Amino acid sequence: MVPTPEEALELLERYNQDPFHLTHGRIVGEVLRWYAADMGHADEADLWQTVGTLHDLDFERWPEEHCVREEQLMREAGIDELVIRACCSHGWGLTGTPYEPESDLEKVLFAADELTGLIGAAVLMRPSKSVDDLTVKSLKKKFKDKKFAAGCSRDVIEQGADRLGWELATLMEKTIEAMRQSPSAPHGDEANGHEAGATATSTAPAQSVASSATQA
Ligand SMILES: [Fe+2]
Repeated sequence: MVPTPEEALELLERYNQDPFHLTHGRIVGEVLRWYAADMGHADEADLWQTVGTLHDLDFERWPEEHCVREEQLMREAGIDELVIRACCSHGWGLTGTPYEPESDLEKVLFAADELTGLIGAAVLMRPSKSVDDLTVKSLKKKFKDKKFAAGCSRDVIEQGADRLGWELATLMEKTIEAMRQSPSAPHGDEANGHEAGATATSTAPAQSVASSATQA
């Protein structure tokens, strides 16, 4: 079966307690929902959101088995191959996953996941603490500063853009716009708790992203 976005969130909460990871799952789900419409797959918006929500299902509890353990967890939950493949493929080349990103959904998850982490870290540095006034130019500066949010792999982001056949600036522009439309992304609303906008990535513990952001 393909979980609805609500069911995906329940499953995420079964294996994750850290607000950091929960917020990251929500943000990537909402970002992928935006991309579904943008890339001509509006009829699959729920599927894309579900995949975004579940992609790091195993990361909090089994970071050493990332993208491998979650295959097992999702199989046990009776989840469709389509969802499993898409979730696990974001760890291609970084974890032990055998799945390479091939579909639009898989390619955009691979590219945008890591970038949402960098955007979240960049937003923390802004007086507004909001993605709403973040520009591509400012994000590019943070991208080039290798010491900033060092846990966010620039290689993965560039490789992700390449896989999509997009310029890096296009990926940045679209992902910023997707995060502006994401209710769980940081919009300067402190009550919403969004230091979590600087998110977990496929390659580094979430905390290292956040701490390198605050030190930068
Ligand atoms: Fe992630």
